[in-house]
Amino acid sequence: MDNIVELSQLASVKERFSMAGKKAIVTGAAGGIGRSTAAALADLGADVALVDIRTDLAAEYAEHISKKYGVQAFAASCDVTKEEDVDALIETVVQKFGTIDVVHSNAGAIGAGYDDGDIDFASWKRLMAINLDGMFLVNQKVCQYLRKEKKGGAIVNTASISGHVINRTEGRHSVCYPAAKAGVLHLTKGMAADFCKYGIRINSVSPGNMVSGIHAGIPEEAMDGMAGDCVMKRLGNMNEIGGAVAFLLSDLATYITGADLLVDGGYCIW
Ligand SMILES: NC(=O)c1ccc[n+]([C@@H]2O[C@H](COP(=O)([O-])OP(=O)(O)OC[C@H]3O[C@@H](n4cnc5c(N)ncnc54)[C@H](O)[C@@H]3O)[C@@H](O)[C@H]2O)c1
Repeated sequence: MDNIVELSQLASVKERFSMAGKKAIVTGAAGGIGRSTAAALADLGADVALVDIRTDLAAEYAEHISKKYGVQAFAASCDVTKEEDVDALIETVVQKFGTIDVVHSNAGAIGAGYDDGDIDFASWKRLMAINLDGMFLVNQKVCQYLRKEKKGGAIVNTASISGHVINRTEGRHSVCYPAAKAGVLHLTKGMAADFCKYGIRINSVSPGNMVSGIHAGIPEEAMDGMAGDCVMKRLGNMNEIGGAVAFLLSDLATYITGADLLVDGGYCIW
């Protein structure tokens, strides 16, 4: 594939986007973004492990995805903040699928209502554990597995606009979530640089405000305010994220590593 200068030698974009035969893991797959990505990867032909602490819900989505796309899909219970859970997850997926090719490390949580400068230390540690420790554990364990197997692979981490800027808001500003998500951006770059020599690519996506489930309990007026905060003046929806993740995980992105793709309706332009 090197030194292609003739149009006739260019590979098919459709074929390079295909996930046929690939084995995928998606964490936070009972949530909106995770299950959308799981569906996107399955639509492109991948077998998918849907990972969450809400296992019943993940199992429901796995069944739906398997039927709809004709791939293998199963739910795995794993708390990404626990090292033993992540070790067990890798083992389970390898046992069921034979290997791992692509991973969307996506589990996360916000601390709406208490994540400001007065956040108590226990809540800080909980949010950091879910949003940053868990991301590190999944990245490290997957990379170590891929290195041991001497095969390449790709990971996409879910960061956030909050990793780039502090969200505009009328009230107090979150401090822990943005700190954790900024950490995810740099974790992505560090791991990408460190594991590149093993044929592993690691990138991130940074969603803006998208209707996914994470904002459950936030009043409608506040959601309208969030919609108005971006250039597109609307919230994102679940048809607008899975494809971006799939692209970065696919062979269309073989020259992309350590990058972040904003999917934010232009939020970070301002
Ligand atoms: N929706 C948005 O507007 C938005 C914006 C920016 C970033 N994000 C990020 O996108 C990711 C997905 O969020 P979503 O919007 O789909 O929210 P969601 O709440 O619908 O999904 C998050 C999922 O993560 C799971 N989870 C939480 N802690 C876990 C743990 N310790 N182990 C395993 N699973 C765990 C939850 O059970 C849930 O199913 C998160 O990382 C979030 O921070 C979302």
